[in-house]
Amino acid sequence: MKFVTSTSILLILLISSSFGLLDPKRFGKKFAALVYRAHRLCKDSTGVTQQLIDGVKVGQFPDNEPSIQYYTFCLWGASGELDDNYKLIKDQLIEYLTEMDLLEDAGTYLSCNENATKLVGVPIHKQFWEMQKCLYKNIPTENFIFF
Ligand SMILES: *[C@@H]1O[C@H](CO)[C@@H](O)[C@H](O)[C@H]1NC(C)=O
Repeated sequence: MKFVTSTSILLILLISSSFGLLDPKRFGKKFAALVYRAHRLCKDSTGVTQQLIDGVKVGQFPDNEPSIQYYTFCLWGASGELDDNYKLIKDQLIEYLTEMDLLEDAGTYLSCNENATKLVGVPIHKQFWEMQKCLYKNIPTENFIFF
């Protein structure tokens, strides 16, 4: 019985880490489920490649690949982080960041979101692309979240 349990835990960990998603050190339980669903939905709906997604994790922001830009915007929307005006919902942001022990980054999230959504004449998916670049630039590398 003990063997079965630890085997399935190991299996879950292996599967999760191969998706690079559910690192329990990063995402709390509640957020992990959300992250997984948002990733699937946005990947399927935009047709983005895993390569482009992995690129963002290491600071690659190609401006000529619409799929990754739409994916990025989709993630923010599908994670339920945005209000009707595409502003981050502050209470919720704080809840998730607290769960991940990243509360120190809250001000940067809010500022990057504020600045990006002020860009005049820029389509919304490109505003969120700019926001994601702003986050990469201003958040410590080890705290940067993309999935
Ligand atoms: C947002 O814009 C303000 C005003 O230009 C700037 O001072 C601030 O650094 C920007 N925030 C980030 C996180 O880049």
